[in-house]
Amino acid sequence: MKGLILSGGKGTRLRPITYTGAKQLVPVANKPVLFYAIEDLVEAGVTDLAIVVGDTRDQIVAAVGDGTRFGARVTYVDQDAPLGLAHAVKVAEPYLGDEPFVMFLGDNFLRDGIVDYVRQFASLRQQGEANCQILLHHVPNPQDFGVAELEDGRVVRLTEKPRQPKSDLIVIGIYMFDHHVFEAVRAIKPSARGELEITDTIQWLIDNRYEVRAEVIAGWWIDTGKMADILEANRLILERLEPANWGTVDGNSQLAGRVVVERGARIRNSVIRGPAIIGEETEVLDSYIGPFTSVYHHCRIERSEIEHSIVLEQSRIVDLPYRIEESLIGRNVEIGRSPTKPRAYRFMLGDYSRVGVVAGHE
Ligand code: DAU
Repeated sequence: MKGLILSGGKGTRLRPITYTGAKQLVPVANKPVLFYAIEDLVEAGVTDLAIVVGDTRDQIVAAVGDGTRFGARVTYVDQDAPLGLAHAVKVAEPYLGDEPFVMFLGDNFLRDGIVDYVRQFASLRQQGEANCQILLHHVPNPQDFGVAELEDGRVVRLTEKPRQPKSDLIVIGIYMFDHHVFEAVRAIKPSARGELEITDTIQWLIDNRYEVRAEVIAGWWIDTGKMADILEANRLILERLEPANWGTVDGNSQLAGRVVVERGARIRNSVIRGPAIIGEETEVLDSYIGPFTSVYHHCRIERSEIEHSIVLEQSRIVDLPYRIEESLIGRNVEIGRSPTKPRAYRFMLGDYSRVGVVAGHE
């Protein structure tokens, strides 16, 4: 089986981070979301992979390369515009050919991997009992996803982001197809939002009497498209962290609970309360880093407190009077005190930035 990872798209819900970076490269526990997808595929024995890329192609290629370090062979398929998930399948047809494949949305995150589902699909297919397999999950906000309706355990209808969902079962972003999917993507028409929808593709397969299997997954699954979801994924991954220290921690510092200090990181006169991860060459000085925090590489945290947050590479947080929490801080960001009078906030924020300030003491 081959693998198809979708890493194009716009990432509008994660602005401003996604103005300059691919949403699939936002780190969760100091590892880009996309890498978890690649690892899940490789673990399931799927090592011939194509990644569909758009505007952020160069960043994705720089991060993943030819896939050798994941034990995979990765090629890239260009999608000129984000015209839908089924459009991405269409442009990947020359690469996929007649082989069955697993399609994995590059911003989806699954706790327990996909080994069992891939094995199951391969054996059902050999017996001629499956042309497609989808994975379903119960969620409290089905209107934000593709929603499935079942009858006697079989999927009968899929609707993309319906206003009034008929069930709380949604289709997650991991799909298995054989070559019949190409008939479907050629037959369907763009939806009201102008995209070739994967839900319409699968509906076409159902309507044309192809075998579409559905499995409700156990364990958690997260679509990391929004900030709250990224923080949640970060929390869940950090919970399973194995403590390790490859950096330097001075005698005045304390690491409590599951903490990872990556290579070249320096912790001085600080408290890190895990689960937390401090990235390569990051410096933490006179500070407190609280649970569920990931600070990526080459950052500096000085005389400040932060918890339940993700800080991307090369950012500096210095001299803050109040603790930062539940925040996603981008690359090369500087947060600090203004050195000059009058006492005032001085911001340089990108479009769609969000800032929450607390009332100060006089
Ligand atoms: O996360 C599961 C949901 O994913 C499903 O329940 C929906 O049925 C499915 O349509 C999809 O919905 P989203 O609105 O979340 O898809 P999004 O536009 O975020 O795209 C998902 C991934 O695919 C993301 O990594 C970007 C990439 N992509 C997206 C489009 C539209 C492409 O590579 N090319 C595209 O044309």
